[in-house]
Amino acid sequence: MTENNKHIVLGVTGSIAAYKSADILRRLKEKGFKVSVVMTKSAEHFITPLTLKSLSDQEVFTELFDDGSPAGEMPHIDLARDADLVLIAPATANIVGKIANGLADDLLSCIVMATKAPIVLAPAMNTQMYNNKFFRENKDKLKSAGMTFIDPIEGELACGDYGTGHLVEVDDIVEAACKVLN
Ligand SMILES: Cc1cc2nc3c(=O)[nH]c(=O)nc-3n(C[C@H](O)[C@H](O)[C@H](O)COP(=O)(O)O)c2cc1C
Repeated sequence: MTENNKHIVLGVTGSIAAYKSADILRRLKEKGFKVSVVMTKSAEHFITPLTLKSLSDQEVFTELFDDGSPAGEMPHIDLARDADLVLIAPATANIVGKIANGLADDLLSCIVMATKAPIVLAPAMNTQMYNNKFFRENKDKLKSAGMTFIDPIEGELACGDYGTGHLVEVDDIVEAACKVLN
């Protein structure tokens, strides 16, 4: 294990590829990063917070409005401030659209809005969605704003189509995250 003092906020969104976030988390932990997992409501349909909590040995953040938070703690600001990198993998068309349009209606989008850390997104989606004009415009907007995209690859998709939209290999995501951090 390579010890380092970098903190990665790993955002997990509602893609069929969300199960791969378990492997991404494991690899980042192996590299010695502190990893705080933030899941959207949709992501919880694909992988449970308990799975990621067990792998990360830490609380998994799912709620923007958490009545159980100790007074004075605001995860959407605290995580945003403390992050060295926000990595969203997999990233849905929806989160890309929300970020591109300045929307902040859940914990993950609020963190993105509030952070000064670099942001890396690994989209995964159906090919038609990936080629959608509005998705492309949103993606280009975020790239122009300095965010890094790890583009999906061609392959068999969960919907049965073959095309571009498959989440890249976990190693490529981890490598891209390390590159941005360094
Ligand atoms: C079975 C299933 C698979 C989905 N897979 C994807 C996907 O891979 N990529 C994507 O952008 N949206 C996908 N969606 C749609 C998203 O879950 C939906 O847009 C959701 O609102 C995303 O919310 P989030 O961005 O807050 O996680 C899928 C939906 C379903 C029902």
